[in-house]
Amino acid sequence: MTDRLRTRCLVALAAQACFLLLSQACTQRPSGLLPGQQQPVQPGEPKQEQPGISRGRFPQGFLWGVATAGHQVEGHDKVSNWAAWAEAGRTTALPGRATDSWNRYAEDFDLARGMGLNAFRFSLEWARIEPRPGVLDGAAIERYRAMIRAAKAKGLEPVVTLHHFAYPAWLDTYKQGTGGYPGWEDLHTAAAFEQFARFAAREFGRDVRYWITLNEPNTQVILGYLTGVFPPGKVNPGAAAAVTRHLTLGHVLAYDAIHEEDPDALVSTNFFDLTHVSDPAAVFPGDSSREMLGQLLSWQGLDLMLGGAVLGRGSRKLDYMAFDYYYAWRWTEVQRMARQWEWALRPEGLLSAMKVHASRTGLPLLIAENGMATDDGKPRADGWTREAFLVHHVDQVRRAIAEGVPCLGYIHWSLLDNYEWGSYRPRFGLYEVDPRDPLLRRKATAAVEAYKAIATANDVPPALLEQHPRPSTRP
Ligand code: BGC
Repeated sequence: MTDRLRTRCLVALAAQACFLLLSQACTQRPSGLLPGQQQPVQPGEPKQEQPGISRGRFPQGFLWGVATAGHQVEGHDKVSNWAAWAEAGRTTALPGRATDSWNRYAEDFDLARGMGLNAFRFSLEWARIEPRPGVLDGAAIERYRAMIRAAKAKGLEPVVTLHHFAYPAWLDTYKQGTGGYPGWEDLHTAAAFEQFARFAAREFGRDVRYWITLNEPNTQVILGYLTGVFPPGKVNPGAAAAVTRHLTLGHVLAYDAIHEEDPDALVSTNFFDLTHVSDPAAVFPGDSSREMLGQLLSWQGLDLMLGGAVLGRGSRKLDYMAFDYYYAWRWTEVQRMARQWEWALRPEGLLSAMKVHASRTGLPLLIAENGMATDDGKPRADGWTREAFLVHHVDQVRRAIAEGVPCLGYIHWSLLDNYEWGSYRPRFGLYEVDPRDPLLRRKATAAVEAYKAIATANDVPPALLEQHPRPSTRP
């Protein structure tokens, strides 16, 4: 896992470049605003108040949530590409029971509700629903229906991801005639994903408003096809290019399918934020050495994923702009980025990213993930605690809103310590879970009380900032 993380940092730039080349080859940025879209906010420039979007305060109905992903928490996965990858010995640990949330989801929802939250992001595992090509598992479908309804009954808005890295193992092996499904390298996978999305919207659309089609397509390309540390373990720029195209197509097809089933749905895909790479001047003002590079790399990956122009199927295919913010590093800090618990934490980077994304898309934002790792629960060397991390990052969201950035919600990664794609060592949970504990008890960290205070006040109470100061050593 740690090597994987090192590579993740080192190749982020390469991947952006890859997106750049691809997008320039086949896209044209859509111009003008769509009906209902807002005029983009210029970084740092306050904008007029819009109905439903308040300035300076968290709007009423702001989504306070936590995120999980099926493969990382459900446990007992035997049918996904990730299960096959682990079985093949490609991970440090097997996922096993994970946090057993397949059986304990109601308890997890209660924990979220106990913090005063009103949203829960989780995924439907395509592999569980369609374990063999064209064969649907009725019991899995009913379990997900129960899950979605339980979330709603407990006052949690479900934010549903359709593809969080894991997909059915048969997509990597199934052959039909001379064609086949070699995962996302094949165009058919995009079509298969469209069918899955349509099915999910038809089945669950009544209870789900917020959809995320693909989780972090940029991470999937980088780790799966440029560094080979995620399945299918390839280091192949040609494959990365094909997968980028097919993920894009998959998103666009799924976006349309969901809207055909439910015109009121709100659909997005969430990026792993790389504003510090693509737009360093926004994150590190005054660091002019990288400005030209930043301009070169600026937001082309996002542009690509906006998708419509790529495929000539209309215009933008995002109803809101979702992104995941974890860190922002300077070039001199690349070594520090080798392990998740050494990531360079910079709350201000979230503010910059929000301004950049809002200004470039004109869309309301959703922070779909933001979180902090420890090394197996040990204190971090840089002094950050989970509660200080949470409070100071949410405070940056507050600032962004005060500057006029429209934002729908903040979703923290994660509710529980969980299976971190190959290992249980990095711990991201507001609740600790020890995978060795036979009872997999959920134990509150101090961040739980902090989050509760924020969600209950719908604000960041100043006393909380004082109570949880940021570490004196800044990166
Ligand atoms: C992923 C999560 C992961 C988290 C922490 C995100 O890139 O979406 O699944 O657990 O980062 O590494």
